[in-house]
Amino acid sequence: MTDQFPAGLRVVVTGGGTGIGRTTALTFARLGAASVIITGRRAERLAEAAALHPAIVPVRADVATEEGAEAVAAAAGEHGGAVDVLVHNAGIHHIAPLGEIDLKAARDLFDVNVLGTVVLTDRLLPLLRSPGGNIVFVTSPAGHNPTPTVSMYAASKAAVNSLTRTWALELAPRGIRVNAVAPGWVRTEVYESSGMTTEQVDGLFEQAAKGVPLGATGVPDDVTLWITRLVEPSSSWVTGQIITMDGGADLVRARQV
Ligand SMILES: NC(=O)c1ccc[n+]([C@@H]2O[C@H](COP(=O)([O-])OP(=O)(O)OC[C@H]3O[C@@H](n4cnc5c(N)ncnc54)[C@H](OP(=O)(O)O)[C@@H]3O)[C@@H](O)[C@H]2O)c1
Repeated sequence: MTDQFPAGLRVVVTGGGTGIGRTTALTFARLGAASVIITGRRAERLAEAAALHPAIVPVRADVATEEGAEAVAAAAGEHGGAVDVLVHNAGIHHIAPLGEIDLKAARDLFDVNVLGTVVLTDRLLPLLRSPGGNIVFVTSPAGHNPTPTVSMYAASKAAVNSLTRTWALELAPRGIRVNAVAPGWVRTEVYESSGMTTEQVDGLFEQAAKGVPLGATGVPDDVTLWITRLVEPSSSWVTGQIITMDGGADLVRARQV
């Protein structure tokens, strides 16, 4: 981290009540953000995150709805009326091989992981600092790797990768940068939320660590630091990039293909 991180930023982090989003919100707040609006559906998780720092502003909002986007815009209006950084982090997971895909779950997944980012970006665009604003997506290596049993999740993240690159071009004339981070295995609630038991997740992570060249799965801070790095002024010539942090697991997959 350089010592040049701009103070007073107005930040929005979707899914900021837990996991990578919570750590991201706290990091921006500690770096001197004026406000960090966090969204999610569970008020108690948002309240826990907001209790960590006075700059964190909880907004209960479903990211997949226009009402949710409206609530975020209203909160942004009350906290400076501008947005410097929008982190599209909210996401859900769905494990099912072809033949067992639940269509409703698949639709929900695309609503949250893809269309929710469209609705919110559209609504906040007039407030996004121009020039100088930043959008950062939290995507996944599944977006660029074939990933059996999670094809819908992988397809949603492939769509997010496309949005990253396409919006980077669309928004470059306004001086707004769009990038993404693609973390590998990070132990958060996302796995239990998709229906796995804690024992299953323990087993999954034990197995996953064995396939990571650096020998370990990640923690939310491994991801958050890259989100803030992409936003800081020293990255001002970087846009449309998807940065993978996964202990080298992507390299092993590439070698196997
Ligand atoms: N953990 C990993 O290994 C990993 C790897 C690659 C990518 N990612 C990505 O990282 C991002 C963060 O996930 P995480 O691992 O930190 O898991 P997490 O703790 O489960 O975070 C997901 C967040 O999204 C929120 N969310 C879900 N549906 C929402 C909706 N409809 N409206 C508003 N908020 C919603 C959840 O809050 P509520 O349930 O309260 O709404 C939750 O706070 C996701 O995009 C995920 O795909 C994670």
